[in-house]
Amino acid sequence: METTLIIFKPDAVQRGLMGRIMSRFEEKGLQIVGCKLMQISQDLAATHYEAHKDRPFYKSLVGFMTSSPVLVLAIRGNNAIAVCRKMMGATFGSNAEAGTIRGDFGVSNSFNLIHGSDSPEAAERELKLFFKDGEVLNFDRAVESWVYDMSGGKPE
Ligand code: RTP
Ligand code: MG
Repeated sequence: METTLIIFKPDAVQRGLMGRIMSRFEEKGLQIVGCKLMQISQDLAATHYEAHKDRPFYKSLVGFMTSSPVLVLAIRGNNAIAVCRKMMGATFGSNAEAGTIRGDFGVSNSFNLIHGSDSPEAAERELKLFFKDGEVLNFDRAVESWVYDMSGGKPE
């Protein structure tokens, strides 16, 4: 099982899309194991996106991410990192596929609603940036054995 960091960006929160976007992950069968509404500081946004610090869009990206509260989630499931990235769709709303979150809820390229970790290494790093010890929970779901085929001893 993987756990990934998802952020509903300021535009998703301001536009009242938190519930609808979260429902997509729940309906998919993924487990929400951490969740908090927060205002991202300048420092945290800069660290989170430091891989992009030399890119022309970096300053406006940090400005956007700190402009209004975000909802930060830890989402767990089999292959959760790739599954969530696929559900998010391509980076720019203008060309994200219909059926994806970015494709269905936005047309902007900069205001693209959602962030998701793009690798296991990024997920580990980003979860530590946004969640303190004890804020990501381990708990059994009653539906687990109907979400996954566990007959082989691992989730399929
Ligand atoms: P994210 O990190 O937010 O999940 O998005 P991503 O992997 O799909 O895209 P990435 O290349 O990591 O870019 C991070 C965020 O920067 C903004 N961006 N603007 N104007 C531009 O050319 C441009 N390119 C990227 C987007 O908000 C993107 O999500
Ligand atoms: Mg990225």
